[in-house]
Amino acid sequence: MQGVEASVTPWEVKGEVDYDQLITQFGVEPLNDELIGRLSKHAGAVHPFLKRGLFFAHREFGDWMNSYENGTRVVLYTGRGPSGQTHLGHLIPWIFTKYLQDAFGAELYFQMTDDEKYLISPDLTREDIAGYTYENILDIIAVGFDPQKTKIFTNLGYSRHIYNIATRVAKHVTFSTAKATFGFTESSNIGIIFFPAMQSAPCFLHQELEKEDAHVLIPCAIDQEPYWRIARDVAPKLGYRKPAGIYSKFIPGLGKGGKMSASIPETCIFLSDTEAEARSKIKDAFTGGQPTIREQKEKGGDPGVCIVYNYLFSLFEEEDTKVAEICNLCRTGGIMCGECKRMLAEKVASFLRDHQKRRGEARSRVEQFLLRE
Ligand code: TRP
Repeated sequence: MQGVEASVTPWEVKGEVDYDQLITQFGVEPLNDELIGRLSKHAGAVHPFLKRGLFFAHREFGDWMNSYENGTRVVLYTGRGPSGQTHLGHLIPWIFTKYLQDAFGAELYFQMTDDEKYLISPDLTREDIAGYTYENILDIIAVGFDPQKTKIFTNLGYSRHIYNIATRVAKHVTFSTAKATFGFTESSNIGIIFFPAMQSAPCFLHQELEKEDAHVLIPCAIDQEPYWRIARDVAPKLGYRKPAGIYSKFIPGLGKGGKMSASIPETCIFLSDTEAEARSKIKDAFTGGQPTIREQKEKGGDPGVCIVYNYLFSLFEEEDTKVAEICNLCRTGGIMCGECKRMLAEKVASFLRDHQKRRGEARSRVEQFLLRE
């Protein structure tokens, strides 16, 4: 996109993201067929997110699987910043984390950064954040994590344990490193400057609580990588293994350009959307179609830029032959945008129905998952 320089940091993703360039910039590795093959063997199936390239990069994921294979304890760590309602994009790493939990029988530590979102959002009160924290936890539970193996905690509610580790991390992180890594300035508040230590701390939580060695894997979107640079630097100084990571792309919003973002609600599918709301947003989605049906039939459309095709490909159509067929039909003018939109809307509606049902059931199960002091 002209004029908008791409930038990816934990607090801002703007412009057209070039994922190959991010791999170089962040110093991570592309996920290769060998690793995907090994993971799929443990899991019993290739996850569609791997097949369709939604998870695309990693750090020492092979070493983490080595640990699993040679009997070292492996655990998972991910998180959520409760700054608003959950949308489809947030769910990608969580769905994949569940796949990893099932494949490796691993314990999962799930951090809710209520402190971060309070510190970073000028307009959110503590009450707002507490409300989102509870609502977001319902969405997390609805993904289907194993209650026996999943520990959700909030930084404010579980601060004794997290702060304990965070201070030890923080002692090894200079302000100049934090500035360079996160872009803090003179006007950043001092809470957010300390926060990277709070997000790094759970990399060592299992080891602290259980008093045992463990190899941690963090499944998350690529924008969180700067935190793990800090955690990996500090780990050996505190006597821990460096955490490994496996990283996803962002899913685009339904409009033209940009990732899905709660701040542009008309191009964002919230998990709380009614079927009618979701259908109407999809109806207005950006496609690769021609201005008229006649032109579409003559010239065909461009699935390469089409958001509807992108969603079918990345998230909602698991059959390889089916996506290939849709792609071909589009290119040759054999299918109109309305039809693709209807196809996607059906899938999204059925997904939302299932999710909302599980979310309702989660209300009575929160305590099973919550770590308390
Ligand atoms: N900072 C993340 C956010 O804004 C939340 C988070 C905390 C997280 N710990 C994490 C995300 C670990 C991924 C992995 O959403």
